[in-house]
Amino acid sequence: MSAVQQGRVAVVTGAAGGLGTSIVEALLERGDRVVASDVSAAALEALQAKVAQASDRLVAVVADVAEPSGWAAIREVALDRFGAPSILVNNAGISPKHDGKKLNGVDIPLNEWNAVVGVNLTGPFLGIQCLAPGMIEANYGRIINIASVAARYGGRLGGLHYAATKTGVLGITRAFAHELAEHGITVNAVAPGRIASGMAAMVSEAVNADYASTIPVGRLGTAHDVAHTVRFLSDEDSSFITGTTTDVNGGSHMQ
Ligand SMILES: NC(=O)c1ccc[n+]([C@@H]2O[C@H](COP(=O)([O-])OP(=O)(O)OC[C@H]3O[C@@H](n4cnc5c(N)ncnc54)[C@H](O)[C@@H]3O)[C@@H](O)[C@H]2O)c1
Repeated sequence: MSAVQQGRVAVVTGAAGGLGTSIVEALLERGDRVVASDVSAAALEALQAKVAQASDRLVAVVADVAEPSGWAAIREVALDRFGAPSILVNNAGISPKHDGKKLNGVDIPLNEWNAVVGVNLTGPFLGIQCLAPGMIEANYGRIINIASVAARYGGRLGGLHYAATKTGVLGITRAFAHELAEHGITVNAVAPGRIASGMAAMVSEAVNADYASTIPVGRLGTAHDVAHTVRFLSDEDSSFITGTTTDVNGGSHMQ
């Protein structure tokens, strides 16, 4: 029986955050079984309460994506509860702010740089290293990496480290797409613009309103806008789409 016939098993990191919760909900709605992972145990409890009606298809794992041990835990729980994952959504990310503002590049301390690289870049790298072998064995997989519009133009509200790591996510996406295509595995990135959810709440409403006024579609995005795109790319019918970046930004950056 193929991986798809057995039913989709998806791993979502940063699952308890603004976009992560919406991605989990969209995959559960489709009937997937979901391994919801996050570094925050309290936030994961809130997520479990929110999707209680689908609790038999959801398992939560507290894990740090920047650490190989976090990925080992995710893999072990997935195999134990649902079987080998055929979908990986690398969504966990951080964008440090100080009093609601980014630091300029010249002021970013090394420990903050390392923390952002660890979660935003090492996290997806380790995740694919950990879960791709199971997908290779099944000759099927869907990997979606959440990047950012900051990868397109260097970032307005996110710092230099944020823009650098999200640009790196596009590199990881393309390189793994090349390497894994022959195994029936697609690897794509989604680059959200400003989304009225999750980390966008770290800056003031006035800043977000000002940003919204510059977006051609005339509003900030929603978590659903991103989750819908992830669900599309993780579908078995999306088999001819790989190595791409889908911009979900209301036209704030076009190319
Ligand atoms: N909200 C936006 O406007 C926006 C725009 C572009 C890109 N993004 C990207 O979307 C993704 C989700 O962002 P969000 O807005 O939902 O943010 P969020 O802060 O609401 O969620 C991020 C989640 O990641 C978790 N996390 C942090 N460090 C972790 C670690 N080491 N291991 C595992 N989990 C960890 C957090 O606990 C949190 O639940 C991020 O990759 C972010 O860069 C967001």
